[in-house]
Amino acid sequence: MRVIVCDSHEEIARLGADMIEEIMKSKKDAVLGLATGSTPVNMYSELIRRYEAGELDFSCVRSVNLDEYYPIAPDNDQSYRYFMNKNLFDHVNIDKANTYVPDGLCEDTDAFCASYEAKIAELGGIDIQVLGIGGNGHIAFNEPAEALEPLTHLTDLTPETIAANSRFFESEADVPRRALTMGMGSILNARKILLLATGAAKADAIATLCAGKLTTSCPASLLNLHDDVTVICDRAAAAGLQA
Ligand code: GLP
Repeated sequence: MRVIVCDSHEEIARLGADMIEEIMKSKKDAVLGLATGSTPVNMYSELIRRYEAGELDFSCVRSVNLDEYYPIAPDNDQSYRYFMNKNLFDHVNIDKANTYVPDGLCEDTDAFCASYEAKIAELGGIDIQVLGIGGNGHIAFNEPAEALEPLTHLTDLTPETIAANSRFFESEADVPRRALTMGMGSILNARKILLLATGAAKADAIATLCAGKLTTSCPASLLNLHDDVTVICDRAAAAGLQA
């Protein structure tokens, strides 16, 4: 695992965008695995800036998102589909028909989850998966648990995650209690993984991840099974790492 500690959020955005740019330049129809949350927003803005400067072309790019609340409508301003449109897709020349976010309104969740895995396979797999990390070590919505799911599934959110995500909602009661999420195996199948983390609330999770052991109480630690993971974080998130 490569760990890069940055002095500013601009630097994190730049280095993250560099990794995505490198893949987009080597493969016009790259499959980008995308994440929501506040952490990747600056990197998406940097990608938009590079697109506007004529440096990036999204016309053939495909994307798959990690997760979505359930149930939620795509036009709800708290949905991850809405987030992706607002923070990236509406500002670049990606064909929205080539962007996949789990369907927060699907009726048969098992059938939907199987079809989402089939879609990722049909796209040829994910070239680079962007990840944030929860303060409790969750990635996507794979929450700490005794057992973790390998593939896309419907999951309950933990009270910590509901509380952490309530900042985006009017009240904690409005946060959906469940979500559709890629599983640990879906994430580990990506050819490259880029995890971004900022702020002191992520320090424990980053320390556990970087300790190199596997524990289902910190789902992110399973990334130690992958041979191409880059962690880009700020000093606050890196506070628990040995100098
Ligand atoms: C949510 C998302 C995760 C994200 C995490 C951290 O729960 N499902 O994919 O990594 O929050 O979010 P933030 O970047 O806002 O701290």
